[in-house]
Amino acid sequence: MHVAFHLAADLDTALKTAAATAGLADAAAFAPEMRTADPKHGDFQANGTLGYAKARKLNPRATAEQLVAALPSSVRESYDVTIAGPGFINFTLKPATLLAWLRAYATREALTAGAAAAHAGQTWVVDYSSPNTAKQMHVGHLRSAVIGEAICRLLAFTGARVIRDNHLGDWGTQFGKLIYGYKRWANPDALAADAIEELERVYKLGNDATPEGSPALDEARNELVALQNGDPTNVALWKKFSEVSLAAFQQIYDRLGITFDHNLGESFYNDKVGRVYSELVETKLAEDSNGALVVFHDEHPRFSRNTERPNPFMVRKADGASGYASTDLATALYRTEHFKADGIVVVTDFRQGDHFEQLFLTVKKWFAAKGYRLPELHHVTFGAVTGEDGKALKTRDGGVIKLKALLDEAEERAYAIVTAKNAERETDRFSDEECRAIARTVGIASVQYADLSQNRSSNYVFSWDKMLALDGNTAPYLLYAVARIHSIFRKAGVAPTDRTLDAAATGLATPAEINLARKLAKFPDALRLAGDTLRPHFLCMYLYELAGDYSTFNTADKVLVDDPAVRARRLLLCARTLLTLETGLHLLGLRTLTRM
Ligand code: ARG
Repeated sequence: MHVAFHLAADLDTALKTAAATAGLADAAAFAPEMRTADPKHGDFQANGTLGYAKARKLNPRATAEQLVAALPSSVRESYDVTIAGPGFINFTLKPATLLAWLRAYATREALTAGAAAAHAGQTWVVDYSSPNTAKQMHVGHLRSAVIGEAICRLLAFTGARVIRDNHLGDWGTQFGKLIYGYKRWANPDALAADAIEELERVYKLGNDATPEGSPALDEARNELVALQNGDPTNVALWKKFSEVSLAAFQQIYDRLGITFDHNLGESFYNDKVGRVYSELVETKLAEDSNGALVVFHDEHPRFSRNTERPNPFMVRKADGASGYASTDLATALYRTEHFKADGIVVVTDFRQGDHFEQLFLTVKKWFAAKGYRLPELHHVTFGAVTGEDGKALKTRDGGVIKLKALLDEAEERAYAIVTAKNAERETDRFSDEECRAIARTVGIASVQYADLSQNRSSNYVFSWDKMLALDGNTAPYLLYAVARIHSIFRKAGVAPTDRTLDAAATGLATPAEINLARKLAKFPDALRLAGDTLRPHFLCMYLYELAGDYSTFNTADKVLVDDPAVRARRLLLCARTLLTLETGLHLLGLRTLTRM
C-alpha cells in the first residue's frame, strides 16, 4: 500500500478530484479545507463543503454525499469515511493504514523526503540575530537567534535551500565616538582579555567626552568622516572592531548550534545604496523633502503624506547620509539578484514593525516598476522578554543581562538539578564530567525551548523554574522522554533503527497503540503549520502532545512482553516516537541526549 507522507494534503487532492468526478457545478472552485480533526470525530475533517454548497444554494449534506461517493477506492480502503452534522466529511485512519505509514516513514531521510514538497526548489534567505558590533549580545538578542535558527531548520527540512545571513549593525555614527575613545583610552591588556567589554568601556568614555556643542564632538565627527573616506588607520580599527565582535558572537552561536553562511552587515551595502537612490527617483517613488529623499505611501493610513505628523520612509538623510532604510532596500535587492531568493525572512523585535512595513511596501512598488521578480517578504516579529513581574528582564542591580551570563546560569542551574538527581540513583551513576555535559545540553535546550514554545507574538515571561521543570511543556520533559525511549532499546538489546521490527510487527490493536500511531502520522501537519506560519510553537505543541500520548501508551501497554509480534509492534511505536521527537527537537535547534 502506498501512503502519502502528508495525509491531509493527499486527502485534499482526492476530494478536489472527487468534486470533478462527481460533476459538481463549478468543481474547480471547490476548496475542501482539510484540517486535523478533533480525535473524537476522526483524524482529518473537510469543512469546505458547507461554504461551497451554501454559496451555490445546494444542500451541503447532499453535496458531501456526492463527494464521498466519488472518492477513489484507495481512500475508502485507507480510511473510515463519515459525514457529520450539516456536511462535514470525517476521515479516520484504519489501523492497517497507520502501520503502513509507520513503515514507510521509518528514517530521518524518509521524513525529509516526505516533507520536502512544501518548499522544494526554493531559496530562502533568513536574516536573524543581526546584532550591532562593538557591543555585547544581551538578553534582547536571544529571541531573534533562537527563533531564527528554528525557522531556518524548518524551511530547510521542508525542502528550501536556506541561506543564513547575519545582518550585522556594523556601520553608523557611533563609530566616530568609538574611534575617538579607542585612540585615547584603549587598554591592550583589557582588549586581549575581553575585547567587547573594553570596546564598550572606551565607547562610553568617548560618548561622555563628546557632549553636544563641544570641540571634542567635532573631533569625533572627524574620525567618522575619515572612516567614511577610507582613512587607512580608522578603517583598520573598524575592521578590528568587527572581527573581535564576530569572534565573541560566535562563542554564543556555538552554544546555540548556529552557523551563519554570511555575515553581510550594513557596511556591505555602502557601495550599493547609490543604485537605490537613482532607481527610486527614476521610478518617481521617492521625492525630495527639504533635501532628504523620502517615500510616502498615500494608500496607507500611517505612511501617507496626508497625516497630521507625516512619517515617510527616510531613504537618504538631508546631509546625504544613508541609513537603516537605504541599506535595507539595497539588501532586499541584493538578496533577490545575487541569492535569487524566493523568500526573505527577517527576524526582529516587534518594535521594528513600521520600518519593515514601509520597507516591504517600497520594495513591492520599486520591483514592480523595474520589472524585478518579487520574492515573498516576511517580517517575523516577537515580543519582549520580561521577568515574572512583567517588567523588562534586568540583573539584580538593574543592569542589562548579558547573553553569555544568561547561558552560563542556565547551565549552572541545570547542573544543580542533574547532580541532585544523580545522587538519588541507585545504580549507573554519572561521572561529574557526564553531569556537566548533560547539564550543558539541558540548560541551553531549556532556554531555547522556553522561548520557542510560546507564540512568538506574545511577550515572553522568563522563568528559570518553569523552563527547567521536568513536567509540562518544557525541554527537560521532552529530553527525558527521548532518553527514556533510548533506555528501553538498551534493555531490549535492539537498536531503535533496527528495521527487522517493521516486518515482525503485526496489526496495531490496543486503543493506546492506535492513539499513539494516529498522533505520529500528524507530524507532517505540525511541520506544515509551523513552516507556513513561521511559528515554531506549533511544532513544540505537537511534540509535547506526542510525548503525552507516548506516556499514556507506555503506562497502558507494557513494551517488553514475551509475545514477539506484540513486542515488535510496540518497539516499532517506540522507535517512531523517538525518531519524531528527536527530529522535531533538532528542527527547533535543540540537542538531545541518549541518557539523562
Ligand atoms: N541590527 C539590527 C538591530 O540590532 C537588526 C537588523 C535586522 N535586519 C535587518 N535587515 N534590518 O536591531
